[in-house]
Amino acid sequence: MEQPGLGLEPSRGGQQSPAHELIPQTPNLSRLRDAAAGCRACDLYKTGTQTVFGAGAEHASVMFVGEQPGDREDIEGKPFVGPAGRLLDEALEEAGIDRTRVYITNAVKHFKWKPQGKRRLHQKPNAAEISACRPWLDSEIALVKPRILVLLGATAAQALLGRDFRVSLQRGQFIERPGLPLMMATVHPSSILRAPDDESREIEMQAFVQDLKRLAQRVKGS
Ligand code: URA
Ligand code: SF4
Repeated sequence: MEQPGLGLEPSRGGQQSPAHELIPQTPNLSRLRDAAAGCRACDLYKTGTQTVFGAGAEHASVMFVGEQPGDREDIEGKPFVGPAGRLLDEALEEAGIDRTRVYITNAVKHFKWKPQGKRRLHQKPNAAEISACRPWLDSEIALVKPRILVLLGATAAQALLGRDFRVSLQRGQFIERPGLPLMMATVHPSSILRAPDDESREIEMQAFVQDLKRLAQRVKGS
């Protein structure tokens, strides 16, 4: 079934997610957010506190796509507000990009975790969860209509560019695909936080900022 009113291509990749049924007939971002709050299209709603929907400027020219909310995001209900979000803020600022003028979301909208002592340890979402959640992302893209999609890390990049895509080989390049905005994949801010020492963290941060500066140039120039 086509999603009504959004002019989207039928979702790539096989089976329809039950989330399709929840997309409002005449969607806007706030209706979409309300609908996503009740999503049970995969099992992650059972252990996540809430659906963490995208946030930001309604008609942003740039949309960032992360992997899934983390521990802080799960509690606060907003994307990129924890440690990875602070690093993203810092990099955006260095690149001269105003966070209030972009839209930020995730490929998967519930936090997937397993207990480790008193902590909740992040777990990577699998292909079934990513595709179950895809209608929400597709709808956000269709409504915000960004000129450029920035894919943060392998999960977001492979969700939109296919399983063979390697961020390490193609980061920072602009990529065109039919039916989608222009895309750029880069590293996930968490990977920078995980750098083994200060020096490599600084190097990785600068490379990330470089990618974001190229993005800012492209947005300005086109
Ligand atoms: N990591 C993500 O991919 N998304 C968030 O919202 C937070 C951390
Ligand atoms: Fe629905 Fe996505 Fe949450 Fe799964 S992760 S229940 S598909 S919103």
